[in-house]
Amino acid sequence: MIKLIVASSKQKASKKAAQIIIELLNKKPNCVLGLATGQSPILTYQELIQDHLKNKRSYSNVTTFNLDEYVGVNVNNKISYHYYMKTNLFDYLDIKKENTFIPQGDSNYLEYANKYDDLIALKNGIDLQILGLGENGHIGFNEPGSNPNSKTRVVNLTKSTIKANSRFFNSIEDVPKQAISMGIKSILSAKKILLLAFGSKKANAIKELFKAQKLKKPNINVPCTYLINHENVVVILDLKAAALLKEI
Ligand code: GLP
Repeated sequence: MIKLIVASSKQKASKKAAQIIIELLNKKPNCVLGLATGQSPILTYQELIQDHLKNKRSYSNVTTFNLDEYVGVNVNNKISYHYYMKTNLFDYLDIKKENTFIPQGDSNYLEYANKYDDLIALKNGIDLQILGLGENGHIGFNEPGSNPNSKTRVVNLTKSTIKANSRFFNSIEDVPKQAISMGIKSILSAKKILLLAFGSKKANAIKELFKAQKLKKPNINVPCTYLINHENVVVILDLKAAALLKEI
């Protein structure tokens, strides 16, 4: 079941998302969070940092698992998702480094990818998975055509994702062609899912998601539509991302 929240701005949407995470932290201080990178969760992470500083909410018993990482990129490289997590969230919280898991993109990446889902299971699964959304409807780096039974693995990025993500690199040639990503099945195994999508570039994928919900049928070409098979999904949008919903 999908609960839809449309906020009047990205800022308000992010406050709402942070509230949902904080409610979980209050209820379960040792919860397991699934984390995403990209622009979409940035303001939510800033809200969590502010809350931590102001209200002393602790992350000392929290475990986190990130969705994805580029292949062939060192953890200290500024374009790595390891670096993103460190500089956008972890450095500002009291979270223990050993409780933060991110797929390894450089050495031993195949071995690490193969054991990632087992590591999640060892922590009793993800309580709340935060997701951004690719312009083509990808979640994590599960590109169109991804198998709904997929687990964490190496994936080839599509041309459109390489182009969309080139904004974070000096040139399009510098964008890695492969990534490690949690699979569709790994994502759907979370107890609750929170999808954030802002801006007009996400509007079409969001339309496809709610179209799939209406038809009760996921669309293999738009991976986010597999979310309709999950029982507890919250989708938080700004007005631009919600703009095409009236066409359904
Ligand atoms: C990347 C990530 C996704 C993310 C997407 C959207 O491709 N692998 O996990 O959701 O970008 O990014 P943004 O939030 O910057 O639009």
